[in-house]
Amino acid sequence: MTGTETYNYKVIRQFAIMTIVWGIVGMAVGVYIAAELVWPWLNFDIPYLTFSRLRPLHTNAVIFAFGGSALFATSYYVVQRTCHARLVSDKLAAFTFWGWQLVIVLAAITLPLGITTTKEYAELEWPIDILITVVWVAYAVVFFGTITKRRIPHIYVANWFYGAFIIAVAILHIFNSLAIPVSMWKSYSAYAGVQDAMVQWWYGHNAVGFFLTAGFLGMMYYFIPKQAQRPVYSYRLSIVHFWALIFTYIWAGPHHLHYTALPDWVQSLGMVMSLILLAPSWGGMINGMMTLSGAWEKLRSDPILRFLVVAVSFYGMSTFEGPMMAIKTVNALSHYTDWTIGHVHSGALGWVALISIGSLYYLIPRLFGRELYSTKLVEIHFWIAMIGIVLYITSMWVSGIMQGLMWRAVNPDGTLTYSFVESVQAMHPYYLIRWLGGVFFLLGMLVMAYNIFKTVNSSKTAKINDLIPAPVLAH
Ligand code: HEM
Ligand code: HEM
Repeated sequence: MTGTETYNYKVIRQFAIMTIVWGIVGMAVGVYIAAELVWPWLNFDIPYLTFSRLRPLHTNAVIFAFGGSALFATSYYVVQRTCHARLVSDKLAAFTFWGWQLVIVLAAITLPLGITTTKEYAELEWPIDILITVVWVAYAVVFFGTITKRRIPHIYVANWFYGAFIIAVAILHIFNSLAIPVSMWKSYSAYAGVQDAMVQWWYGHNAVGFFLTAGFLGMMYYFIPKQAQRPVYSYRLSIVHFWALIFTYIWAGPHHLHYTALPDWVQSLGMVMSLILLAPSWGGMINGMMTLSGAWEKLRSDPILRFLVVAVSFYGMSTFEGPMMAIKTVNALSHYTDWTIGHVHSGALGWVALISIGSLYYLIPRLFGRELYSTKLVEIHFWIAMIGIVLYITSMWVSGIMQGLMWRAVNPDGTLTYSFVESVQAMHPYYLIRWLGGVFFLLGMLVMAYNIFKTVNSSKTAKINDLIPAPVLAH
């Protein structure tokens, strides 16, 4: 299927497989750091294994390696299929694959060594940042170049979301990473004090909005209609969803800096914009869900569709929770606690991981021309993942709220009721439950890896109706 195929599937196959590989690596590190919080001796007094160094390794691996590879794979698939055009350059597409893998390997080496800018989700030092910029520009050229040579006049809405993700991430990365290098592996941010914090969380929140949301909404708009074999519920709503979402997200960053030195009015602006964000988020969520109207019974028999639709319901849940946490009085309780960690993982596991997994189960048989080895294993994966998520997020909600309440409890004479270490002690059972949840989720990924391995190596040619790319003119 190489060389002569109408579309460039090679690069998609590579990114799709690496999504699973990096998913397992990143989540295994997540399970390990979760275990360190239960059994601190697990760092064995080795600096490279300390929580502080492995935590950014986890976040980088799951967001940029796992999530990033899923976004590259699906965007290259969607843009070709919906534009009826082959990627504008095979060489440049291959460069994005190898360049992105190099970024990941460099991250995996430098972070455990303690080489870091200390900016969350932007920890990588300046030489790697420059490499990211070059790869990203190549990605933009491949994606938008393919759109310009499309044979379909209309640009399908999924491409709008992928396009916004690519442009916004470029801007965020470049401006947040501006720094003055003092040596090969050390630089200082170009911004100072509260401006640095503001730029960092303008970046950080939009990393959520564009890296962890917009591109995955692109997946939602393509793979749910495809798997359900129904048109998008409301195409008009999808356009309103797009413009409202990208306009609002960009203002919400200050909710990460409540009660800090940031001017009060900026914090309030962030809070209000976060509350407004509920509307476009839910508009999109409803649009994704309602695409199933008239086909709900498919959820009973199709575990792939279930992955996709449950992902959208978690999206709805975390985008309800987020605006609530952005309210200053709520944030006074939730900030610095495990509640935030629960919120993060209801979005990360429930939304980002599930929608990626569902999309990959759809994609891989089509990319390799093989029948999926076992639908039963997809079903098993779904339930293991579900148990994992529920254990993870419910334990974090309980421990987070408990932490917040313990920290603020005061005796009648004004002294603190609990010492900090008492709150740490109280967390212990919940950290154990969270670790167990992580183990379940990781197990599900291993089941997936086995299923995909068997699929790719099987001799059963797929009987999928849209396996053969739609006929297109010579190019
Ligand atoms: C309407 C949408 C959302 C809003 C308004 C929102 C709001 C918030 C708020 C208020 C916090 C806590 C900030 C703090 O106290 O430090 C937070 C943290 C976070 N949220 Fe959301 N959230 C939304 C959706 C999501 C989604 C869908 C995801 C994941 C896919 C996500 C990922 C995160 C992450 C990673 C953090 C932690 C940031 C950090 O401190 O490192 N959020 N969010
Ligand atoms: C097996 C699955 C996973 C496990 C066991 C796990 C575990 C953890 C742990 C223990 C932390 C540190 C919490 C703390 O500092 O108290 C963490 C942080 C984080 N994880 Fe995961 N994780 C998993 C999957 C994921 C996935 C798939 C994503 C994203 C797609 C993700 C994104 C994050 C982020 C953004 C943070 C930082 C949160 C913050 O700073 O507020 N995780 N994870």
